[in-house]
Amino acid sequence: MWKTVSKAALGAAVFGLIGGVSTAALAAPPTDWSQVPAKSVKLFYPGQSSYQWLRSKEHKRADKKTMKGDSCISCHEDEEMELGQKIVSGERLEPHPVKGKQAVIDLAVQAAHDADNLYFRFQWKTKNAYPGTAHPHWQFDGKAWKGMGWPQLHKKVWGEGQPAIYEDRLSMMIDDGSVPMFKEQGCWLTCHNGSRDMPKLAKTADVKAHPLLGKVLHKKDVRKYLPSSRTDKALSWNKTKSAEEIAKIKAAGGFVDLMHWRGHRSNPVNMSDDGYVLQYRLFDAGKKMFSKNWDKKAKQPKYMFDAKKVGFKSRTLDQIRDISQPSSIIAEQNAVKFDPKAGWKKGDMVPAYYVTRTGAKGSAADNNASKGTWKDGMWTVVWTRKLDTGHPEDDKIMKPGGVYTFGFAVHDDNITTRGHHVSWPMSVGIGAAADIKAVTLK
Ligand code: HEC
Repeated sequence: MWKTVSKAALGAAVFGLIGGVSTAALAAPPTDWSQVPAKSVKLFYPGQSSYQWLRSKEHKRADKKTMKGDSCISCHEDEEMELGQKIVSGERLEPHPVKGKQAVIDLAVQAAHDADNLYFRFQWKTKNAYPGTAHPHWQFDGKAWKGMGWPQLHKKVWGEGQPAIYEDRLSMMIDDGSVPMFKEQGCWLTCHNGSRDMPKLAKTADVKAHPLLGKVLHKKDVRKYLPSSRTDKALSWNKTKSAEEIAKIKAAGGFVDLMHWRGHRSNPVNMSDDGYVLQYRLFDAGKKMFSKNWDKKAKQPKYMFDAKKVGFKSRTLDQIRDISQPSSIIAEQNAVKFDPKAGWKKGDMVPAYYVTRTGAKGSAADNNASKGTWKDGMWTVVWTRKLDTGHPEDDKIMKPGGVYTFGFAVHDDNITTRGHHVSWPMSVGIGAAADIKAVTLK
């Protein structure tokens, strides 16, 4: 049985002698992951299986037990393929089945830890023969810059045949026992009717007019939220508790951590984003690593590629999958201020977001060591998360010996919202027995 792994054996011996003084071991992920056992996690396609659907009569004979808080796997263990196939095919809970989409994605998860960090290595196969490193762009139509590229579930794609362009993602949700029922029902606590691409979609005007979501948070749509943030039994999107009540729940740790590694908007600067879910899916305090590349006043992009550095100022639709070239604008590396007089031709495209590592700040910039590489149809993402980020106000703080509940998800093949593949809630032990045990590096 695996108990502890010597860091030296993993090739990560980093003790050094400088002038006779021994330096402390540098916290680093294992260099030889083949020594760390891999858990195969089956992620399946959930479609519109919302919190409300799960508590309705349509969730046959299971609505009451789900309401009571029974765990999903108490009835659905090993049913990932069956559920995934029924939904992805459109037989249930999916009004716009995406052609060729997989029912299940096998996510290989390896985990290790030392005194400071939790290290993950994830591997999964992409459906496409290219990685999702591209994201929506601005495209010049001869006169103006217009949006180009949408996720598969967008009507522009399934209704009008426009190109599907959206980044690949890997995400994790974490709870430490503070959120009731998360251990049993995981991410399904956060997914509600009214949200983007879900039944009973909230109207933009109604969200904008909502006293909390619209007027305070300046949102135009509904995203994830936790049951504790709503006042009615149906947990309606618009029945929010007051800002003061929500602040109290947050201060008591009643939120889940949610982080995304993103193929276009974080990976190019070796980062993942950092957010949390309570009354909405929000980013942590500080500044995240990606921003809209749009100058509202001038109605044009803010930045373009620096041709002196990368050889081009823009791309075209048939170039964005060429992974030998950078696909993201990185403010401190390959960007220059957008020049409207640069001789733009119809079809020229500039990414709709830009990325920055040096501009990312505070708690939103905690995930500053995650790197994905794509080779032969497979992503490998190595992700370092500090056990204690120093930001307990919007992160889950972990400790060696602790066991936490995680939900994992992958967004594959140009998709967002319900089109991801998700795991049942799983336990992750920091050197402790669990569904996934992070081995202790010594
Ligand atoms: C008490 C047992 C039970 C629990 C607990 C339960 N389910 Fe179900 N679930 C069922 C049954 C039974 C069906 C209907 C199967 C059928 O119609 O063939 C079902 C159907 C589904 C379906 C639709 C696909 C299908 O096969 O019809 C989804 C999705 C689903 N459940 C997800 C969940 C999730 C997520 C949870 C946890 C939040 C959960 N279930 C909890 C018993 C349960």
